[in-house]
Amino acid sequence: MPVHIDISFRLNGVTRQLSVAPETSALGMLRDAIGLTGTKYGCGEGECGACTILVDGVTVNACLMFAADCDGRDVMTVEGVTATPRGEALRGAFVAHGAVQCGFCTPGLMMQAWHLLGRDPQADEAAIRRGIEGNLCRCTGYKKIIEAIAAAGERARKGGQTPVDKSTEASDG
Ligand code: FES
Ligand code: FES
Repeated sequence: MPVHIDISFRLNGVTRQLSVAPETSALGMLRDAIGLTGTKYGCGEGECGACTILVDGVTVNACLMFAADCDGRDVMTVEGVTATPRGEALRGAFVAHGAVQCGFCTPGLMMQAWHLLGRDPQADEAAIRRGIEGNLCRCTGYKKIIEAIAAAGERARKGGQTPVDKSTEASDG
């Protein structure tokens, strides 16, 4: 009988309990076992950032993390992030600035941008470029993505919706 590991963790603010195979990645668990397909499988090797999630407030490539290592952690995916005011601002800005073409990179970029603006709401172009340097986009040339992230930061600042996070990102937005 195959070995499985029982895990319990918070996913987008809700406690989940699952039994996972030791070799299952966090990405596989999220997409296949839980059905949250917003997190994308790009390279499967930690190179593209399409699978970016937040674990205890830190961005992680879900393709390189074992599902079992989610035990006891606080995990956020793009589904959870876009339900927050900062995530909504980002989604609107990506659309308004034409930063989505095929859209495959978009969830991972929004995760990085949400994390970045949480720490640095005034992120300038250089900071945004650094923030998304691990996320590949084959379509846009990045300019529109950077403009969208800057616009989301500005909008959130004006609306007072993006405080600098003092603790974990998972409870803010
Ligand atoms: Fe994880 Fe590319 S799918 S980094
Ligand atoms: Fe297609 Fe970025 S929009 S990879």
